[in-house]
Amino acid sequence: MTTITIIPGDGIGPEIMDAALHVLDALQVGFNYEFADAGVAALEKHGELLPVATLESIRRNKVALKSPLTTPVGGGFSSINVALRKHFDLYANVRPAKSFPNTRSRFPTGVDLITVRENTEGMYIGEGQDVSTDGETAVLTSKVTHHGAERIVRYAFELARKTGRRKVTVVHKANILKSTSGLFLKTAREVAARYADIECNELIVDNTCMQLVMRPEQFDIIVTTNLFGDIISDLCAGLVGGLGLAPGANIGEDVAIFEAVHGSAPDIAGKGIANPCALLLGVGQMLDHTGKPELANALRDAIVATLEAKDSLTPDMGGSGNTMGFAKAIASRL
Ligand code: NAI
Ligand code: MG
Repeated sequence: MTTITIIPGDGIGPEIMDAALHVLDALQVGFNYEFADAGVAALEKHGELLPVATLESIRRNKVALKSPLTTPVGGGFSSINVALRKHFDLYANVRPAKSFPNTRSRFPTGVDLITVRENTEGMYIGEGQDVSTDGETAVLTSKVTHHGAERIVRYAFELARKTGRRKVTVVHKANILKSTSGLFLKTAREVAARYADIECNELIVDNTCMQLVMRPEQFDIIVTTNLFGDIISDLCAGLVGGLGLAPGANIGEDVAIFEAVHGSAPDIAGKGIANPCALLLGVGQMLDHTGKPELANALRDAIVATLEAKDSLTPDMGGSGNTMGFAKAIASRL
């Protein structure tokens, strides 16, 4: 039996994880669960943010389902999510955005795209962060490597082939960031040349944002560097109804961690009203990854049917339901 690591996380994390496990049980996938702590929850229980036992569990099981972890803004400790991505070299962050019925979306139909975000380098990882003693100057390093660019663009093209998608858009800012974005774009062109069967186009990141808001249906797979991918994928989540519907997979050669794109939502934590769909769609990605695409499709169909019926929707989707009620409504349709 496959064992997966379960990280309940912070804020709304444990609430949406309970809901996700309820649905996983209803799917009768037959996973064993190994619970592990990370983030503030781990700090409170074990005195450290990322216990060795958690890393060992993920290393052993190779697949983890993770709820959001809180990261303090400005000062304080560095992101445990970033640490996990770095530790396991989870270089591909795969974030689908698809139109769903009955959401508060600008695009109730027509959007079906995947952002493939480089997950281990670039400005986002905050290398070399420093503030001068007089507080006048702050710097950080942004590093792009040929190796990092090559493997993420290759991942995007392979994903296109595997999922029958037709087009990969390389998003960059090589007109201004000539060194880093320049190397990313040059490498992407090299890779694209090896995939004659897939259309490839290039778009500058600011124009990409405008195009996404105006005509999102023109996009299929987007591949980009870490920080651009972070921002663009939230924008895409917004196009289709918000963070409550946006999942993400962090994939490396050995290990994969599945999650919701959203954070720990401290403003609604403890109220039992968080939308469990983003984490559940992450469960769908996990089922695809572990060779159970029929179960993944059944889960996605049950989510769509529940949205169509406007059954037990949480407040972010305009309903008055709660997290577990929503999960039960989905489970009842499996
Ligand atoms: P957030 O995603 O936690 O919340 C943004 C807004 O969306 C809030 O109004 C929240 O209530 C709402 N929201 C988020 N998820 C929801 C859900 N499932 N159902 C209903 N409403 C939902 O982003 P924020 O406030 O910027 O960050 C809070 C904390 O989460 C920070 O410490 C941040 O570092 C962390 N974070 C962690 C992530 C992870 O673990 N992968 C990703 C993003 C943020
Ligand atoms: Mg983000």
